[in-house]
Amino acid sequence: MATKFLIRGGRPLTGRVHIGGAKNSALPIVTAAALAAEGESILDNVPSNSDIHHLCQILRELGCELEWVGENSLRISAVNLTNHVAPYNIARKLRGSTYVMGLLLARLGRGEVACPGGCEIGARPVDFHLKGFKALGADVTVEHGAMIAHEVQLQGGRFYVDRASVGTTVNMMITASLTPGITMLENAACEPEIVDLANFINGMGGRVRGAGTNMIRVEGVQRLHGCRHEVIPDRIEAGTYMLAVAAAGGDVLIENVIPEHLNTLIAKMREAGQEVEELEDSVRVRSRRPIISADVETQVHPGFPTDLQSPWSALIGLANGISVVQETIFENRFGFVNELIRMGANIKVDRNTAIIRGVERYTGAPVEAKDIRGGAALVVAALAADGTTELGGLQFIDRGYHGMAEKLATLGADIRRVDYPENNV
Ligand code: UD1
Repeated sequence: MATKFLIRGGRPLTGRVHIGGAKNSALPIVTAAALAAEGESILDNVPSNSDIHHLCQILRELGCELEWVGENSLRISAVNLTNHVAPYNIARKLRGSTYVMGLLLARLGRGEVACPGGCEIGARPVDFHLKGFKALGADVTVEHGAMIAHEVQLQGGRFYVDRASVGTTVNMMITASLTPGITMLENAACEPEIVDLANFINGMGGRVRGAGTNMIRVEGVQRLHGCRHEVIPDRIEAGTYMLAVAAAGGDVLIENVIPEHLNTLIAKMREAGQEVEELEDSVRVRSRRPIISADVETQVHPGFPTDLQSPWSALIGLANGISVVQETIFENRFGFVNELIRMGANIKVDRNTAIIRGVERYTGAPVEAKDIRGGAALVVAALAADGTTELGGLQFIDRGYHGMAEKLATLGADIRRVDYPENNV
């Protein structure tokens, strides 16, 4: 069976939607929970998406015990983490599995983890991670599609994080937390998910300072213990719903968000003529017409997030003029554009720049998601389109958006998840 979304567009969205925990925070935090050799951690607000389930499977294979103790609460005990090999068939499925190498180095001093997969939005190498491990004394090589670290004695060190890589910063924080001495991360990523991870590690008894700035200091401790922690809300999921409301029309309260995490998107949406009201832990979006053209360039935090570039492009494709979108983080993040063009968009891509000439409306069409956020962009377009869109490739959307069809249906969208026999697809 293949599963698709059937979306009949043109219905305004109204009501309230509750945002889940951040996937990109939960992946490092669930991994970091396994740093604790004593006690157990309870993590709240963990999104129940396929990436998290795969990570849980990997950690179980390593000897950890993980149990859902509520819809979004996960209990983790890593007292029996003894296996240093993460199974290839699961680890390759998600980018976040790279963190498992940091964990294994920290806990066992060695490890073997398949090189990660994840979305095809660029080459996504692991060279920065390997350089980082080396700076702490580890010898990690890539052999037969896996990262292999032989047993070594780690020692804190100084490391410059190329391109302020989020994943490399996470990995270094995880490894350095149990590495003797002091590790200084220069040009570290400043994303809110990094701050969330630092807070969790400190809650476990770690010593991480400076998270949220581009200089992070980690003092290694001998042991970490479990603790309770609530994962921050997913700013990318929130942003996607905000853009969906602006595109489809309507008035929606987006709940369980930290509005400051969405500052850049809010500024850009206002520039595009949309009404966005910031409340204590929610934002209200009221769509306005016309949508005004506005340019965007993706940047590391606090710049415009690359993860919202695709759904933003879907919105701005309906604006009353020409908008320029520049993607500076991943080299291949315009994969969704051809599908959007099949829905009537007028977009020309030249290397990392998309020139988007606004059209009056999109029309529903059979389209295919090729990565998480590109899939979200097609949902945004379909909600605004005339007619019905059949959207395949839901395995990507499921990696980042739990219950998307249900949430949108509650807001009044005409969206259904439908199973088709394979030979009918
Ligand atoms: C994370 C997020 C992803 C987000 C991205 C940028 C997770 C699980 N994923 O991805 O949703 O879009 O941050 O905010 O949190 N690079 C290298 N070599 C490396 C590592 C990265 O060349 O070893 C390059 C990447 O190809 C990319 C750039 O550096 O061009 C930044 O990537 P990075 O910040 O590391 O992204 P991820 O951690 O993979």
